[in-house]
Amino acid sequence: MRRLLTGMLALSAVAVLAACSFAVKGPAAKPVQFAGIIPAPARFEAGQGTFAFGRGTAIVVRSEAGAVPAGFLKEGLKKRIGLNLAIKQTAPASGAVVLETSASASVSPEGYVLAVGPEKVTISAPAEAGLFYGVQSLLQMIDARGAARGRTIPCARIEDQPRFGYRGLMLDESRHFFGKETVKQCLDQMAYLKLNRFHWHLTDSAGWRIEIKKYPKLTEIGGIGNHTEPDAPARFYTQDDIREIVAYARLRQITIIPEIDMPGHASAATRAYPEFSGGGSQRYPGFTFNPGSEKTYGFLEDVLGEVAALFPGPYIHLGGDEVSFGNQQWDTDPQIVGFRQEHGLKDKVELEHYFIRRMAGAIEGLGKVTMGWDEITSSQVPPDKSVLFWWRHDKRLLLRRALQKGYRVVLCPRAPLYFDFIQLEGQQVGRRPMFNDLARVYNFPDPIIKDVVPEGTATQIQGVQACVWTESIAGDKRLKYMTFPRIAALAEDAWTPAANKNYDDFLGRVRGYLRVLDREKIHYFDVFDPARTPEPPAPERAAKPLS
Ligand code: ACM
Repeated sequence: MRRLLTGMLALSAVAVLAACSFAVKGPAAKPVQFAGIIPAPARFEAGQGTFAFGRGTAIVVRSEAGAVPAGFLKEGLKKRIGLNLAIKQTAPASGAVVLETSASASVSPEGYVLAVGPEKVTISAPAEAGLFYGVQSLLQMIDARGAARGRTIPCARIEDQPRFGYRGLMLDESRHFFGKETVKQCLDQMAYLKLNRFHWHLTDSAGWRIEIKKYPKLTEIGGIGNHTEPDAPARFYTQDDIREIVAYARLRQITIIPEIDMPGHASAATRAYPEFSGGGSQRYPGFTFNPGSEKTYGFLEDVLGEVAALFPGPYIHLGGDEVSFGNQQWDTDPQIVGFRQEHGLKDKVELEHYFIRRMAGAIEGLGKVTMGWDEITSSQVPPDKSVLFWWRHDKRLLLRRALQKGYRVVLCPRAPLYFDFIQLEGQQVGRRPMFNDLARVYNFPDPIIKDVVPEGTATQIQGVQACVWTESIAGDKRLKYMTFPRIAALAEDAWTPAANKNYDDFLGRVRGYLRVLDREKIHYFDVFDPARTPEPPAPERAAKPLS
């Protein structure tokens, strides 16, 4: 049943041409593997013949878990091949797509088996997530055929399950605000590519973007401005907006992780409520919360309480990064120094660790797991109750030690997974000097797992995440340009077994994905022909990244 892929994958070279042209030569003449599916499935076996969708084809749902995936299939088919198929509970003699839950399916809870035969298509999975992903693979098979030929798909058998449980994308909406429609479009594409965690960076120095009922000035004042225009009218999500987006994501098997960054990156909050400010620096005024005031802890616990009630997922991310950018006053402010001495804390670093442990305790008290940037490792937060995000790619020892201490880790190193870094030499706007092109994003995480992850700790790697920081990304078009199609490489890093990964073959499937992006009117960077989808113009006042 299992086809050995290695032999099937040709070894034709990928040419990355220098500087201005930077085009990628794809395997245009080769048949597309895996029926065009991204991320490449764990096992794929091509069959004989084809299945043809027609007006009489039924979508058959045999269990409660199939109801939502069947709805997505129905809508997906309507959009792609113009057929509005009925959803039924029993199968006709032939011509059906059957969605069934099967405890015996030999795949993990998110896995599925998709069998396309000449008479019927069956998707079986242990749970709703697998049925949903089976539907995505089926829709991708149709997309790979194109609008004109999509009513007929090749017979095949796919047994699939993810490599990692955490398959994430982070969006920074503090530096620039994009709004509900953009977020929903990103969630749609995440679902299509089987990504399942949306890490939402909702607060930072440029703007506070989530309504907190008890502290309305957080959005009335803290929501004003962005990284390019400090006086832009307040933009933020109301609690109703948040509930709407959470529900939208949930239907698509995506858990949202809200990030409330603390004790640094807090200037928007401290502009609104200066009484909770622990000071900042000349470059970063009001950068920190005041760790020496009980009132600050009370305020943040209230905020986290409202956040926990809005997001049903098991996690809250408390940031914890780069506190040293603006904690100088922690050495001189009499209240902060007094608090530190009273709690037997040697210096401001110990005070920072105390702050993080205390807020992690508050998150635990809300029944959630604490997530934080890799700085929180040194705070001694309990390894069984916290998850670290390893972002400083140059701190390999830190990753090793964190794993040795038993922490669970999400890998999101700046190189290659920060998507605000440029993707080709000639790009006008974006972080440098590294550039995170498609190939580098694709060549992950195995080099890190091989070179850095200590033996016996690989199971603590929860997964991978790309981060779209937006100091240099103002506007929907640039956001898409920086995210697509790199997100497809991320999806394959997160889902596909290392043995099935092959960049050349992936490029063949990316060609098809670009057509999907055209259909969805999503701007992107055309890796094959950069001149075809030009870089959007820079914002009037080009923003300078903070870090
Ligand atoms: C970060 O990039 N400061 C997490």
